[in-house]
Amino acid sequence: MTTFYITTAIDYVNSKPHVGHAYEKIISDVLARWHRLLGEDVYFLTGTDENAQKNAQAAQEAKIDTKTFVDKNSLAFKHLCDALAISYDDFIKTTEKRHVQVAQQIFEELSKKGDIYKGMYEGLYCYGCEAYYNEKDLVDGKCPEHNKAPTWIKQESYFFKISKYEKQVLKLVKSKNFILPESKRNEIVQRLETDGLKDLCVSRYGAEWGIEVPFDKKHKIFVWIDALVNYISALGYPDQKNYKKFWPANVHVVGKGINWFHSVIWPCILFSIGAKQPQTILVHGYLTAEGKKISKSLGNVIDPLTLIQTYGVDALRYFLIREIPFSQDGDYSEASLKARLNNELNNDLGNLVSRVLTLAEKNFKEIKKVPVDKTLSAAFDLQKIKDIVDSYELHNALSEIWTFVHAVNRYINEKKLWECKGDDLHQQIYTLLECLRVLGIVLYPFIPGAADKINQQLGVKLGTFKDCSFGKVASYKVKKGANLFTKV
Ligand code: ME8
Ligand code: MG
Repeated sequence: MTTFYITTAIDYVNSKPHVGHAYEKIISDVLARWHRLLGEDVYFLTGTDENAQKNAQAAQEAKIDTKTFVDKNSLAFKHLCDALAISYDDFIKTTEKRHVQVAQQIFEELSKKGDIYKGMYEGLYCYGCEAYYNEKDLVDGKCPEHNKAPTWIKQESYFFKISKYEKQVLKLVKSKNFILPESKRNEIVQRLETDGLKDLCVSRYGAEWGIEVPFDKKHKIFVWIDALVNYISALGYPDQKNYKKFWPANVHVVGKGINWFHSVIWPCILFSIGAKQPQTILVHGYLTAEGKKISKSLGNVIDPLTLIQTYGVDALRYFLIREIPFSQDGDYSEASLKARLNNELNNDLGNLVSRVLTLAEKNFKEIKKVPVDKTLSAAFDLQKIKDIVDSYELHNALSEIWTFVHAVNRYINEKKLWECKGDDLHQQIYTLLECLRVLGIVLYPFIPGAADKINQQLGVKLGTFKDCSFGKVASYKVKKGANLFTKV
């Protein structure tokens, strides 16, 4: 069976999750569910990045012991995943033993390969990014991600000899579909071609929090080295069943600010340990509020749990996917969320389901299969939607599905279904029920709650894409239920 391994970035737990994190989880969940419908054996990993200095700093400010603090915030991320109906197969915490062991083992492997040496680091460091900066990459002397001046640090450090992989990495990042979308690949290619690849400082002397360098207890492993390793520690690198089955990953879903780490640093680790490279680094844009990145560090966060309470989880999922063209930044607007819930979800889809079910129940005890009306079956193009999802243009997939929803609504109005009778009505209703069933399948990855409700009312089980064609059900006995959505 084809396998499909997909991951999200693991989130820092310096504070609670915001709607930007929700966005990334939802994109990944849509893809995971989509590939399950394709009949693939999917493994979906998410989790939390707990060994960062910034987590320890935040714990100190909160006057809570660091481990207690990261555990508590990690739970908040896990709860968010559950509230968002994220269908993850594993949730890794990087303070877990299974991760710490593998992170240390890999550091050891890099060293045995001759890729680690001791030196002196002197330069700029942004704790928000947990990353080293060149003067020239600052904007007005500040880190452009966090709008904060980085700290000057000087310390004895271990270095990772990534300069030796420069040519290999350049070739990899230029290869087809390794970084998507193309605009995000070009940024990396350009940076590699202008700056080259300088050895990376990969340990912190004297840090209290973090994973110990296995052969030098005075040092902690640089958090990015340990964090990236989560993608294979969770699978049981190097010899457990899941690692053998699912590595290399099909897709690492990440935000644009951490593209470099995933497209350049991670491949260097994998080259060094002799493991396979992931297929695709899928880079999304940022959710912004009044043009600024929504961020814990900037303090302009929007709590996704509140949004779920007010609008429902399907509305939030639908809104985020539909509103933000993949790869671009999108400004978060509650007015637009509300409008999309009321118009697209409630009026276009919810009312459609309720109209069809009302007519079906009123006129028939049972609706036996008859040939479907081709007007509607011809308006549905599964292959086209699949192609759009394959190119990761999820917002366009929803608009394509909505073109069909509009076609079905138009059909009811044009045929004046409420005036029809007999065999005509029978054929029209059977056709419409098939339309709803097919919609229940293609919508499931995006709005699983609503899709379940459609299936329940139709009295069918969730199918896969194999069932996503017309005239499959021999007989319907429907039961109208509550509306799919509630207007706000
Ligand atoms: O970067 N809009 O963690 P993180 C969209 N621990 N996505 C956003 C966002 C926004 N406003 N803000 C953050 C880290 N993200 C590291 C990752 S992976 C081995 C280690 C995205 O908590 C961000 O780009 O800062 C990243 O993909 C994810 O949320 C976690 O961000
Ligand atoms: Mg961040």
